[in-house]
Amino acid sequence: MKNYYKVPVNQPSLLGNEKKYLLQCLNEGFVSSVGPLVKKFELKFAKKVDRKFAVSVSNGTAALQLAYESLNLKKNDEVILPSFTIISCILPVIRGGAKPVLIDSDIKTWNIDVGKIEKKITKKTRLIIVPHIYGLPADMAPIMKLAKKYNLKVLEDAAEALGLTYKRKMCGSFGDVSTFSFYANKHITTGEGGMIVTNDKKIAERCRSLRNICFNNERRFLHYDLGWNYRFTNLQSALGLAQLEQLSKFIRKKRKLGRVYNKNLSKIKFFDIPLSNIKYAKNVYWVYGLLLRRNSPVKLKDFMKKLKKSGVETRNFFWPLHQQPALKKMGFFKNIKLPISEYLARNGLYLPSGLSLTSYQQKFVIKQVKKIFLK
Ligand SMILES: Cc1ncc(COP(=O)(O)O)c(C=O)c1O
Repeated sequence: MKNYYKVPVNQPSLLGNEKKYLLQCLNEGFVSSVGPLVKKFELKFAKKVDRKFAVSVSNGTAALQLAYESLNLKKNDEVILPSFTIISCILPVIRGGAKPVLIDSDIKTWNIDVGKIEKKITKKTRLIIVPHIYGLPADMAPIMKLAKKYNLKVLEDAAEALGLTYKRKMCGSFGDVSTFSFYANKHITTGEGGMIVTNDKKIAERCRSLRNICFNNERRFLHYDLGWNYRFTNLQSALGLAQLEQLSKFIRKKRKLGRVYNKNLSKIKFFDIPLSNIKYAKNVYWVYGLLLRRNSPVKLKDFMKKLKKSGVETRNFFWPLHQQPALKKMGFFKNIKLPISEYLARNGLYLPSGLSLTSYQQKFVIKQVKKIFLK
């Protein structure tokens, strides 16, 4: 694969049965969403994350859209979610006409600050959307407790958290409905792809229908509802099945990359490194993030520029939702300050940590980082 970076920020590992299963699809002629592997992948995936039902879709953003729609929120209902996440989490809320209520994040785990949720719950609150960010899970126990107390639904976005556990329970097994992404930088990839999981048959059926433009069984091309075409293909399922077989190995590799970075970078006192363990989880380092401290002699932009010059690709952290121009111009989030989210956005970056990263490449990245800070 041609790559302009010596060390790209992410490259997937496709060395298992991917080719074999793809060839099988080609030989059998099943390339669209019609094909035996789609169901097979869904069943295996549901089992892996301890859910009854899994509905595959074309990407993680689509998964969030359909999961959200399956919960039947109304206009003006309120939805709680963190500001520090990808825009995909808020899109269905805005498009559905509900009111997003943003919460700041925890400075240590970069996840929603659970201590700040309860005072934002009102009579109109219906849903909490909880993404797990960058390798550590959100603190689910108090969130589920609040949901029970106030009769709220939980949509868990486990896009970055396949194979990660919270108190030994699989991420993705908590929400009334939960979602995953299989983009090329995720723990398993199908190129593009996503999954919705739930234990509620009605939610699963609703998502299946929405995924397939709400065709109905009695008379094709007669539609009682508005859906989408977010179907997932047999080809993608072939990749997914081969990738899923390797999930434990991938998780081990991610953790090893994280450990090596932590060991080598912990002595540099100008940034915070990710926590390896917290009381309810062990970091899976979906990405390896660094957070520049205020005493850093190098600004984030210059740090990234210097690494780029030496051939190391990096990425900024998310930009907080309350400062997204697309949402601001619609009139959302006037005069809202969420200092931790803003700090994370302005001072965080992540280093190469893809599943194909070699130890030689990782050593090279570490050397370049040290060169910048330890002159
Ligand atoms: C937390 C989270 N949710 C949703 C998504 C969207 O997934 P996709 O890129 O497959 O649409 C991402 C993508 O990185 C993500 O990190």
